[in-house]
Amino acid sequence: MAKEPADPSLAFAAQLKASTRSEHEGVDHHVMAAEPFSSLRHYEKFLRLQHRFHGIIHELYHHDTLNQWLPGLNELPRLEKVEADLDALDLAIPARPTPLKDLHPETALGWLYCSEGSNLGAAFLFKETQKMGLTETHGASHLAAHPEGRGLHWRQFVAQMNALPLSSAQQTAGISGARQAFAFYRQALNEIFQPIEAA
Ligand code: HEM
Repeated sequence: MAKEPADPSLAFAAQLKASTRSEHEGVDHHVMAAEPFSSLRHYEKFLRLQHRFHGIIHELYHHDTLNQWLPGLNELPRLEKVEADLDALDLAIPARPTPLKDLHPETALGWLYCSEGSNLGAAFLFKETQKMGLTETHGASHLAAHPEGRGLHWRQFVAQMNALPLSSAQQTAGISGARQAFAFYRQALNEIFQPIEAA
C-alpha cells in the first residue's frame, strides 16, 4: 500500500488524521456494507467486532506511561461497555482477546487515536441503534457519547496528544500504530462478517 509521508508541519493529531484517511474510508465503507444495524443477528456480529477491537487495546488504557502522557485515559476504555451491551441483549460474551503486548507507548498512541476517534463517528452509529430500539443504557452503551459530549471530549484528547513532546521518529511510530489499528479492525470485520456475506 503506497503511503504519502506525513507532513511534519502538521500537529501530531492532524498527521494521524491525514495519514489514515484512506484507512478510515475503508472501514467506514465496509462497516456500512455489512449492514450492522439491519437485524439483531448482524448487530451481534458488530458487537463481537467491537469486543475484539476494544479487547486487544484494553490494557493500553491502564498503561502507566500512557496515563502519564494522557491523564484520565484509564476512564475511557469501552470493553466493559461492549460486554454490557452483549449481556443486555442476552448474547454470549466472547472470551477476551489476547491483549497487545510489547508495544512502544508512542505506537500505542496511534491505536488509542483510532479507538477514541471512532467514538466521534459513532454518533451516526448510535442513531442507527436507536432505530433498532436500543439505548445508551440498553444494548448500545458503548456507542453513547462521553458525558462531556463527543466534540468536547475529542478536542481535549487531541489537545493532550498534540501537547506531547514527541520526536519525529516517535510521531512516525504513532502513525504506524494508527495504521495497524485500522488494519486490525478491517481484518476482524472481514473475519466476523464474512459468513453473513457468504450466506
Ligand atoms: C460506519 C462506520 C463509521 C462511520 C460512518 C464513521 C464516521 C466518522 C465521522 C463522520 C467522523 C468525523 C466526525 C467529526 O469530525 O465530527 C469520524 C471520525 C473518526 N473515525 Fe470514524 N466512522 C466509522 C467507523 C470508524 C471506525 C470503525 C473507526 C476505527 C476503527 C473509526 C475511526 C475514526 C477516527 C480515528 C476518527 C477521527 C478522525 C480525526 O478527526 O482525526 N471510524 N468517523
